[in-house]
Amino acid sequence: MENKITTGTAIGKIILIGEHAVVYGQPALAIPFPETRIKTIISRKRGPVMLDCFFYKGLLLNAPERLLGLTTIIKEIVNGFDKELKDFSIRIESSIPPERGMGSSAAVAVATVRALYDFFDQPLTDQDLFKWSNISEKIVHGNPSGIDTAIIIGETPLYYIKGKPFVPFPFKLDAFLIVADTGELGQTQAAVASVEKLMDTDPEKGEDIIKQLGFLTKNAKVSIESNDGEKLGETMSKAHSLLDKLGVSNEILNLLVSVAVENGALGAKLTGGGRGGCMIALAATQQEAISISNKLLCNGAKNTWIYNMGVDLL
Ligand code: MEV
Repeated sequence: MENKITTGTAIGKIILIGEHAVVYGQPALAIPFPETRIKTIISRKRGPVMLDCFFYKGLLLNAPERLLGLTTIIKEIVNGFDKELKDFSIRIESSIPPERGMGSSAAVAVATVRALYDFFDQPLTDQDLFKWSNISEKIVHGNPSGIDTAIIIGETPLYYIKGKPFVPFPFKLDAFLIVADTGELGQTQAAVASVEKLMDTDPEKGEDIIKQLGFLTKNAKVSIESNDGEKLGETMSKAHSLLDKLGVSNEILNLLVSVAVENGALGAKLTGGGRGGCMIALAATQQEAISISNKLLCNGAKNTWIYNMGVDLL
């Protein structure tokens, strides 16, 4: 049996503003987060398909429910190629903390689809990638807007509106972004479902918050275009208050947002699905970013990253 190995990679993402509202047709701004990555390695190996990843090691067919998005697309892709689901193994290496709002589920899907198409010598288009990742995301999140997949495939900052062509967003801001991991697993599916419930039970409140979030995203775009970090920071903090009202924040996220603002951040908010996961804060200088990052680590953050938004996103 010929020894064959293919790999696929994908980066993480950070939603700057607009999460949750983007599910309901409002815009969102997201940036790639190349500090974190997924790598899927597929190797020829006789026997049933084995999976080795953060959550599970064993037979693909016995993988737990939480991996259903991934295992479903693997089976469907192989079936679509008219191949047998056997004689290869899949290993997934990740530096994206799982379930932290950094897009790990979409990145795992994208990296794995890339490796799988390569393994079976099939040409892969961005449309295929988008389709498969969104099938997986639908199983994982219930009602995805598609933003995670779009940013992870595009690897460029995006001003994203569900169902519209992606608009790459030239991004250069004289400011520093701190990303802090609460260490708590985010609950995107539960958070998305709770917003959906609010939209059903109290549509006036739900729609009002979603509309205000959309308005803030449009403001954020203008602030970035005019290189106004202070305005962007204010807008981020307002968005956090709205997300809290929407019920998708939690104690640790609120604490870290307050710590950042009390220690000189221009603004701060949760990022991604919420209820755990990560928060972001904006600082005017690198020195301030380092100091805020240290304060976040002293107050419960498990890890932080600092992004120079004037350079890293060009
Ligand atoms: C998750 O990264 C972002 C959400 O807006 C869900 C989605 O857009 O699919 C919470």
